[in-house]
Amino acid sequence: MSCSITLKNLSLSRNGDTLFKNVTLSVGHKDKIAVMGPNGAGKTTLLKAIVGLCRVQSGTIEIFHHELITEDDFKKARGHIGFVFQDSDDQIIAPTVIEEVAFGLLNSRMKPAEAQAQAEAILAELGIPHLRDRITLHLSGGEKKLVTLASVLVMKPDILLLDEPSAGLDEKSVNQLAQILASIDKSMLIVSHDLDFVNKMGAQIKYLTPDGLS
Ligand SMILES: Nc1ncnc2c1ncn2[C@@H]1O[C@H](COP(=O)(O)OP(=O)(O)OP(=O)(O)O)[C@@H](O)[C@H]1O
Ligand SMILES: [Mg+2]
Repeated sequence: MSCSITLKNLSLSRNGDTLFKNVTLSVGHKDKIAVMGPNGAGKTTLLKAIVGLCRVQSGTIEIFHHELITEDDFKKARGHIGFVFQDSDDQIIAPTVIEEVAFGLLNSRMKPAEAQAQAEAILAELGIPHLRDRITLHLSGGEKKLVTLASVLVMKPDILLLDEPSAGLDEKSVNQLAQILASIDKSMLIVSHDLDFVNKMGAQIKYLTPDGLS
């Protein structure tokens, strides 16, 4: 099977306490897998480990069958991965929504008019064109979540890591987001506490426990 993400026997400890061990998972091409589990189980830590923002003590991480070992390996892998953080404030950097969503495109040297057009298109797709000129600092929690999603999706990453993408969204936005994610033909690893949402987006569900993923 062609795998986008392959985790083998990952173990992570902090200050001598094991957070999780024996985490093994294959996210196949265009698979959608949701990781659920209690607060503090290590779900966010697991996503961060995949992109090298946290280091595991043992086990292997492969992206497209390439094992990530050095900082350079993780840096290259991050070029293929879109990561929506649990806390949007950790992610938003630009003063206005349109600048935020166009930021990555401009950074990759796209012409400003084209970057703006693509940013506007993704805002429309996510049902938030009206937020275009808003000050990011003044957005509500749910609005920030949708803007960070837009800024990640606009880059067309091969793999999406989404940490509680539906948290703080109203019912209509949750349903709309589930539909959008269901229609995106990409490999996704989603962390969520919302069973209804992950079912609606058609994800396969795994539970993170201290002894691994089941
Ligand atoms: N940088 C850090 N340093 C020390 N402890 C940390 C750090 N980051 C997370 N933790 C701790 O590790 C544990 C797992 O955190 P993590 O954020 O991965 O949990 P989670 O499963 O995502 O929880 P939630 O559902 O609440 O988001 C928690 O007890 C947390 O306090
Ligand atoms: Mg978390």
